Amino acid sequence: MPQSSITAKRSYPLSSSEAKACSLLEQMTLEEKIGQMSQVNGGGWNLHDAIRNGHIGSVLNEVDVEKVNELQRIAMQESRLGIPLLIGRDVIHGFKTIFPIPLGQAASWDPKVLEQGAAIAATEAASTGVNWTFAPMIDITRDPRWGRIAESLGEDPYLCGVLGAAMVRGFQGNQLSDSNSIAACAKHFVGYGAVEGGLDYNTANIPENELRNVYLPPFKQALNAGVATFMASFSDLNGVPAAGNEFLMRQILREEWCFNGFVVSDWDAIRELTVHGFTANDRDAVLEATNAGINMEMASSLYKDHIPSLIAEGKIEEAELDSLVFGILKLKFELGLFDNPYTDPGQFPQPVNPDHLQAARDAAERSCVLLKNDHQMLPLSRDALGSVAVIGPLADDGYEQLGTWVFDGEAHHSHTCLQAVHDLAGDAFEVRWASGMSSSRSRDHDGHHEAVKIAAESDVAIMFMGEESILSGEAHCRAEIDLPGSQEALINEVAATGTSIVLVVMAGRPLTLGSVLDKVSAILYAWHPGTMGGPAIIDLLFGVAMPSGKLPVSFPRLVGQVPIYYARKNTGRPPSHENITHIDEIDGRAAQTSLGMSAFHLDAGFTPQFPFGFGLSYTHFDYREFERSAESIAMGETITLSATVQNCGSREAEEVVQLYIRDLAGNVTRPVRELKGFRRVPLAPGESKRVSFEIHTDELAFHNRKMELVTEPGGFHAWIGGDSNAHLWTEFQIRE
Ligand code: GLC
Repeated sequence: MPQSSITAKRSYPLSSSEAKACSLLEQMTLEEKIGQMSQVNGGGWNLHDAIRNGHIGSVLNEVDVEKVNELQRIAMQESRLGIPLLIGRDVIHGFKTIFPIPLGQAASWDPKVLEQGAAIAATEAASTGVNWTFAPMIDITRDPRWGRIAESLGEDPYLCGVLGAAMVRGFQGNQLSDSNSIAACAKHFVGYGAVEGGLDYNTANIPENELRNVYLPPFKQALNAGVATFMASFSDLNGVPAAGNEFLMRQILREEWCFNGFVVSDWDAIRELTVHGFTANDRDAVLEATNAGINMEMASSLYKDHIPSLIAEGKIEEAELDSLVFGILKLKFELGLFDNPYTDPGQFPQPVNPDHLQAARDAAERSCVLLKNDHQMLPLSRDALGSVAVIGPLADDGYEQLGTWVFDGEAHHSHTCLQAVHDLAGDAFEVRWASGMSSSRSRDHDGHHEAVKIAAESDVAIMFMGEESILSGEAHCRAEIDLPGSQEALINEVAATGTSIVLVVMAGRPLTLGSVLDKVSAILYAWHPGTMGGPAIIDLLFGVAMPSGKLPVSFPRLVGQVPIYYARKNTGRPPSHENITHIDEIDGRAAQTSLGMSAFHLDAGFTPQFPFGFGLSYTHFDYREFERSAESIAMGETITLSATVQNCGSREAEEVVQLYIRDLAGNVTRPVRELKGFRRVPLAPGESKRVSFEIHTDELAFHNRKMELVTEPGGFHAWIGGDSNAHLWTEFQIRE
């Protein structure tokens, strides 16, 4: 096998796929090797000759199974060596059956939801010949201005790591060669979620210690779950774009983590190394990218244009090139493509079938988060209502509810909220409907009158507001994150009728809702809920289902608080409700040091509108008897932290029990809390359960000033509860 810095560390015997890859590699010409490193966009220009000549190793965005089979046939039967193609497609929250956006699925705090969603997406995609997807997106982000927060699994490394690994398992199944398995891709490696200003593609500056303690862990979890590929990010990290970043791709990914899959660039990102100003020209960009260990180039053709001369001049060793090609061939053997390159759609279940739709509905139900429910306004009673006003631009829009980055889902498959209200109402109550606005961004008030009129005539107004799907996702960032257009005005006008409002928000990010909070009685945050969002949401509003979602990301009061997240550092002057003053409470001519010298905003305080991990239910949970198994443990031991959780209401429900731990003193400052465990716990009315978490000292490790992963002896606090503000606490020591 070709020995190189990528593979030199291998100490275990070659797998069957690796041995076959080695054998094939020895037969390949330089031109054919470069061909394997080239991914081109399908669905357009004639690829046949290029494939026939061995110039293409992968095609993305071709999902016509007949065309895919023809491309594979040419590759297998008409090219010299008969190497099958990787067929890539973004399937980030469903293929035909669309699940809630990943940020919404993360709100389920249920790995089974993410795994099942990915498995269904894989099955539907594989039926078209797709054998590789560019997901999970596991960028940690704490900036809702960034449009791609919609694709992420939120702000927390632990939650993101657990859920991202579940998606890898879902996509890749028991083995990659299974017909309904597709290769997954951990993206975007790494630090993309920290782009300055929440501006997509912008620079990200992350100290290595923070990189290793916050941004890298979910990718390590994906690698541990067996993810087949990684994607390098567009962004530059500390001045070095990922596509040319040797520290990331070689030192961390290959040397430290021994990753032996392959890395694909993002779209055109190798050519963009020159646009960044990192290289002077395409040739240098190729040199940097191959040197960094980018195996495959997406969309651009610089590898094809420049590698031959760089090899000829000895700038690139062919042995190095071999190790880049090796990773690609290995995956093709692991996928079984040499033996089964063709796809028979008849071997797959019909897409958008009842089982898939039910799974999407379950996912949407578990993803919605109840943020407010004054006076137990919800659940609504089907039999007690006479009339319901359904209002808002997102109440009956099967396209917008699908969310961002959907390429194969179809709006006509969607079940909207308006349809679901009619289905549930039957003849039990009257349903009146007015969009009120032509779109979520509309600034005109023309439609407001009709909406106000039906609200005034109805027992309750359910308003479906938020963002169209295009307002989040790649390159769709917002500097303000309030309700767009004239939505706030519409809510105020409806509130003025005196009819109670239930607000349902569909959005691709946390929105600032402070200006409407006191105008509505209840808020259900539905993210973009996907194909079955309608029935899921209506079942929740009418109590057919129980809200159980929890926020995977903090909601700011004002966009000026961003970045705001629960796992913040204590600082030397931590804020508290006792030591801060609100801007409206400042005395005239107040003395300079009178306002509380601590880390807070005069006009926003220091807390989010809704904290990470928060979500209400139609019942109430009580936590008590939080106990530790020992007052102190030695390094290498495990402590068990247990509490009793009780459902104090009259309805069965699930609670997401969360465990947070703080390391009181560290070689670098440690967060005030870190999620270290969570579990969905079903509880019958009145039922109590003892919930225990076993924490090994290794789980409290962090990277210190020397970048050593260590657990330090000392004091720890622990909290258990239903969100990141959990109060029930205990403490323990780790001894030397
Ligand atoms: C995009 C995205 C990436 C996606 C790729 C292929 O620009 O950055 O996440 O997988 O191109 O569509």
